[in-house]
Amino acid sequence: MQHTQTTVLLINATHPEPPVIEHAAALLRAGELVIFPTETVYGLGADTLQPHAVQHIFTTKERALSDPLIVHIADEAALEALVTDVPAQARQLTHAFWPGPLTLVLPASSRVPKLVTAGLDTVAIRMPRHPVALALIRAAGVPVAAPSANRFMHVSPTTAQHALADLNGRVPLVLDGGPCAVGVESTVLDLCSETPTILRPGGVSLEALRSVLPNVQFSVREPSHLQEGQKAPGQLLVHYAPKVPAFLFDGPVEAMRKAILAEVEQRQARGEHVGVLIADEDFAAFQGSGACIYRLGSTLEQVASRLFAGLRVLEESGVNIILCRSFEAQGLGLAIRDRLLKASGGNVVSL
Ligand code: TXA
Ligand code: MG
Repeated sequence: MQHTQTTVLLINATHPEPPVIEHAAALLRAGELVIFPTETVYGLGADTLQPHAVQHIFTTKERALSDPLIVHIADEAALEALVTDVPAQARQLTHAFWPGPLTLVLPASSRVPKLVTAGLDTVAIRMPRHPVALALIRAAGVPVAAPSANRFMHVSPTTAQHALADLNGRVPLVLDGGPCAVGVESTVLDLCSETPTILRPGGVSLEALRSVLPNVQFSVREPSHLQEGQKAPGQLLVHYAPKVPAFLFDGPVEAMRKAILAEVEQRQARGEHVGVLIADEDFAAFQGSGACIYRLGSTLEQVASRLFAGLRVLEESGVNIILCRSFEAQGLGLAIRDRLLKASGGNVVSL
């Protein structure tokens, strides 16, 4: 791939500097790519309406053309041009959750290039709430197509440094607005099926969605049913695979701790270096175990925001294997479980 000089510009996350935004917006209008922060993860953005620019997203990420992109907008008026219909349910949801980490799958209008939707007749749209993302989309004056700014199959980036680790030399500009607050990607909700269905759990919880639309469906993909869903290609089990193998331990907290500790001891006895991804409440049990420990925090919000950083830190730390605990299947926990399941590629120890 051709080498591009990558510039990193620091930007104020709450009050983005207008000249920096204008510079980035001009690049987007010129058909170039820009990496920018959102409240979920960093995005690799291009002008949705320039197929050549969109094509560039796929080659830069080494992403399969069959995996459709999310289109980011900054005001609801932009929705009208991108879809053929805005159902009443969509209005209720955008009213409650936009701007924010909710992506809606709606019937695509003919203005949306086929490359963006991977040939589907639907398009995924979201209005992010990060001030930098909103300012950038507004200044560019176009809808911004953006996947997460990582190489295909790698963990999503929650800092500019993560994005650079994957894509340095492939994009002209990275806007560094610091770490992303939510830390897991948006919830993808399909409004084109008979009942609204979650295709990917994310930053807006199932409970929150049901408080607006009580009939929202989500078939939890638990360790016991690991069939790959075909509807959202991002549901590929290995989509978020870290560079070293990961194992997910799932069960009551005490049982998880005991099983992970036993695995640490066995592997260390064989001379392996083991990394563990745990919660603050587990720390005392692992202190002195010899494992390389990454603490995710004590609330689901903290765990979500540190999860991808934890996977990246451990994979760079020289361990042979990463052992992860799981979390309860409620609130942000559904998204956390989903990402851990994907990171472990189905290597699950059910207790
Ligand atoms: O939080 C996020 O959503 C981040 C930030 C950058 O906005 N973006 C993100 O994009 O995670 P990406 O490309 O990594 O994931 C997009 C997901 C994929 O699982 C894709 O299959 C699904 O959205 N998707 C996109 N268009 C779709 C469509 N028309 N129908 C069903 N799923 C779709
Ligand atoms: Mg992604």
